[in-house]
Amino acid sequence: MLDRLVDLMLNCRNCVVLTGAGISAESGVPTFRGKEGLWRKFRPEELATMEAFVANSKLVWEWYNWRRTLMGEVKPNPGHYALSELEKIAENFTLITQNVDGLHHMAGTEQILELHGNIYRNKCVGCDSQFSEEDIDPDNIPVCPKCGGKIRPDVVWFGEMLDPEVIQEAYHRSEQADIFLSVGTSAVIHPAASLPVVAKQYQATLVEINPEPTPLTDLADFCFTAKSGEFLPELVSRLKDTLTSGS
Ligand code: APR
Repeated sequence: MLDRLVDLMLNCRNCVVLTGAGISAESGVPTFRGKEGLWRKFRPEELATMEAFVANSKLVWEWYNWRRTLMGEVKPNPGHYALSELEKIAENFTLITQNVDGLHHMAGTEQILELHGNIYRNKCVGCDSQFSEEDIDPDNIPVCPKCGGKIRPDVVWFGEMLDPEVIQEAYHRSEQADIFLSVGTSAVIHPAASLPVVAKQYQATLVEINPEPTPLTDLADFCFTAKSGEFLPELVSRLKDTLTSGS
């Protein structure tokens, strides 16, 4: 099955990859819905919503500062680096990530669409002005010098719209994909979860890499029950060997 995928990828013009929290699991970043998932410890409504931020900005910032501290200690794993290598091999490559941990960028990938924002960026609740990544003191949350609005993490919260330009580009790239890899996502959160379905509707070969089945599994042309940090380096190594041997 892997050899068939390698052959397809060698002849692929547009390679699109969607990643979720699973690709960062081997870096030590907790996923959201796994047995150790973040949402088991916190209710999303308590923390990742504008209502929560308005009701208790201090608690929300304490949680994000904790996540930033945790993420600041982790490094990309072989799965992130393999995708950065794949970007160099593929004719056209797009990485669409639901993750806010910045690990794909740290691993060297350049073409990244961050669907859910980036935990290291801040923005004003009033005018969307962006502010740099310094941690915020939950007891003294700074306000925007332009409009006086509170500063919040620049991530997409439950019930919020994604950046229209980002999601539009993500759909466009998914429609153009010859091969669409869905890596480390439970495929339950929309609109991200609809991207692989759209790719498939536009005749892409759909590949899922996940140790567990998801709602996407039955739709996929290839399913690899594997950890991304183990599977992706093997895939890229096979691609490179085939390219160098010219076969
Ligand atoms: N390699 C590949 N996949 C893995 C690995 C691994 N080593 N470890 C876990 N997984 C898989 C799990 O089986 C699961 O299907 O990663 C997936 C993680 O799913 P979620 O925790 O639901 O994360 P994700 O799909 O990214 O969630 C989507 O939900 O809460 C929102 O904004 C949040 O971006 C997040 C979105």
